[in-house]
Amino acid sequence: MDMISHSTQETIDIAERLGRLLQNGDVLILKGDLASGKTTFTKGIGKALHIKEVINSPTFTILKIYQGDHTLFHIDAYRLENNLYDLGIEEYQPEGITVIEWPEYYETFLPEQYLEINIKEIADEEREIVFVPHGERYEEIVKEMAC
Ligand SMILES: Nc1ncnc2c1ncn2[C@@H]1O[C@H](COP(=O)(O)OP(=O)(O)O)[C@@H](O)[C@H]1O
Ligand SMILES: [Mg+2]
Repeated sequence: MDMISHSTQETIDIAERLGRLLQNGDVLILKGDLASGKTTFTKGIGKALHIKEVINSPTFTILKIYQGDHTLFHIDAYRLENNLYDLGIEEYQPEGITVIEWPEYYETFLPEQYLEINIKEIADEEREIVFVPHGERYEEIVKEMAC
């Protein structure tokens, strides 16, 4: 399923809609080039969870934890590059919602089921957002999003 976003705000709105469908234990992976909008998308998830803190791209932090209606585990694996590093997410993941930017650097440790989101810059303000469910739970969510 894919969508076109025409602005930063529209990406936040799309992510907020997705965020309202999420439950503890859910895992999202966000793929896309630098500045495609992965952190912007995460802000929308945070909005749905009523997180008051500003969600940003931490320079040195790989995992940030935010408290809202659900706990949000925000991972930016960029700095892991190709060094295999286990953040042990299977232990805390059931306690909240996990969003992973740069999952390419964390592939070995991803759970079996997750929702893949690919963001591609089409023009300055335009992004293609493609949802690829991995697992039944996420197929249901993507169906909801398509309505
Ligand atoms: N349609 C759009 N969706 C998302 N971001 C957009 C869009 N149009 C412009 N932008 C801008 O692109 C940048 C995306 O940055 P960011 O979300 O930090 O990307 P990433 O985390 O993928 O590196 C932001 O400055 C944002 O305002
Ligand atoms: Mg980012």
